[in-house]
Amino acid sequence: MASGDSSWAGLVRRGPSIVRRFRLASGLVLFSYVFLHFLNHSLGNISLEAMERGAEYAELIWRSRIGTVALYGAFAIHFSLAFWALYIRRHLRMGWIEGLRLALGFAIPLLVLQHALGQRFAYHYFDIHPIYRHALYGYWVANPQIAGVKQITLFCIAWLHGCIGLYLWLRVKVHFRQVAPFLLILAVLLPTTALLGLFHGARQVELMAQTDPAWLADLRKTGIAANPAAAAALWMIALWSWSGYAGALALVLAARGVRALVERRGGTVRIIYPDGRAVRIPKGLSVLDASRRAGIPHASVCGGRARCSTCRVRVLLGSDRLPPPSPVEARVLAPLGADRAVRLACQLKPLGDISIWPLMPPAATVRDQNRLDVADSGAERFVAILFVDIRSSTQLVENRLPYDVVFILNRFFEAVGSAITAAGGAPNQFIGDGMMAIFGTETDPGRACGQALEAARLIDWHLSEMNRALTNELQEPIEVGIGIHGGEVIIGTMGYREHAQMTAIGEAVHIASRLQDLTKEYRCQLVVSEVVGTTADVPLGAFPRHDIQVRGLSAPLPIRVIDSAAMLAHHEGPSPSSEIEHGTRQAAPVGVHPK
Ligand code: FES
Repeated sequence: MASGDSSWAGLVRRGPSIVRRFRLASGLVLFSYVFLHFLNHSLGNISLEAMERGAEYAELIWRSRIGTVALYGAFAIHFSLAFWALYIRRHLRMGWIEGLRLALGFAIPLLVLQHALGQRFAYHYFDIHPIYRHALYGYWVANPQIAGVKQITLFCIAWLHGCIGLYLWLRVKVHFRQVAPFLLILAVLLPTTALLGLFHGARQVELMAQTDPAWLADLRKTGIAANPAAAAALWMIALWSWSGYAGALALVLAARGVRALVERRGGTVRIIYPDGRAVRIPKGLSVLDASRRAGIPHASVCGGRARCSTCRVRVLLGSDRLPPPSPVEARVLAPLGADRAVRLACQLKPLGDISIWPLMPPAATVRDQNRLDVADSGAERFVAILFVDIRSSTQLVENRLPYDVVFILNRFFEAVGSAITAAGGAPNQFIGDGMMAIFGTETDPGRACGQALEAARLIDWHLSEMNRALTNELQEPIEVGIGIHGGEVIIGTMGYREHAQMTAIGEAVHIASRLQDLTKEYRCQLVVSEVVGTTADVPLGAFPRHDIQVRGLSAPLPIRVIDSAAMLAHHEGPSPSSEIEHGTRQAAPVGVHPK
């Protein structure tokens, strides 16, 4: 075969995606059948005649050549793919909703077999044409305890299985949340009206059977019961089919066992997790399989179908030994703009030992899949970092009750945090009585630095207001030191399991912290690196300049020493700070006024 997508290798690589599409298409055909069938049952709420008239129309669809091929083809495909899914699944640990869907799906053929044989097979091979009244009489009048209960069970299982399948497919779609309430109403309403329709229809049949012996005799003459040979043949076919089904199921389970043995001989690879745990798995299993086998919580909203991207991991070591992403994996990763070391755990089948870093917390939800993708997957970008710290914090805690200290510190964090967010930044870490903030995770460097300067000015303003409000509680007003620097850092979601959060690491962070420390030395409120002013296009030339030595930097770093951040208001450039100021004045907390 030729190389490229049409080659055999290309076909194999696209296999999972093709299988998924077939499963979805066949599932939709079957769901349409069940949906229309339930609508037909609902007509029983009008009358038995309406049900039977509806069935005639349904037969025009499903007994036509196209309808027959579509329905039986879909059943054959969906059913075969269920066996295939059972085979390729490397472990049977799964979420409850998936487990329920699987269990219900495997129960359907057992229950539907007799019904299908009695209707369609009898029609084609024994020229028996049972209609609603026959089915209703057989299930609900002649044998309600067994046949009726069985039918209700099938009814519920088929609907639930279809709805779960649709839910798992749709829940990762963008507008699912908006349409979900309407779908839920439909999912409850249709089976309810269908069941009521069945009961009404059955009641009508029962009445006719009790009051009209001729009607009943006629019914018995035209049903399967009138042809004992056909009934016996259908029963034998059912028995053979059930045995075949059980045999196929046993074969698949045996094939899983054989494969596990073969794989164990084919070599193993080690997956090393951030906490140092190493999980050994046979080659051919995915990283998500490894997590599930070892019971390590790992986000996987779509259940490993390469639809959600919540399972993504960064490969820290061994990325050179990875197989290339399959087309389906590449398609999911492309919109994230992630680099080559970011892969989908559910699709990545490592060929050698690797160490990984899951990029989403285990409890990630559908909503998280598009959340701050660059930061989640780790990226290098220019940001402005601001450190703020309370001066003389020991005085603050001396001779105070713990409650008072916590109260004052919380007021302080509120004043500083609201200043940062009003300027467009993100408070990121609270370190004792200080805070680190990041500006520019979603803006350009100029705007990021402008926002950081504006935040410094607002911090001074908010603190003045706070000091005024707490005059009675504070012996001395709270003063702070602020350091701001901008530069390339690595932004990413870091931390331990569900405690992971987006943060920044890099030299720029250390420098900003160092500048904050320098405010004590220079006895000022703010120290800003020169690069922040030039990047923001904010002239800082009026403030004293110093060149400081920073470990790791070959050249001295020029900084500006600013006595009070309030002085910055007179030095803002035309943009972007002035834009921010407008937004901030509107967003200022109640009771806080500009000087
Ligand atoms: S679990 Fe959804 S893409 Fe991997």
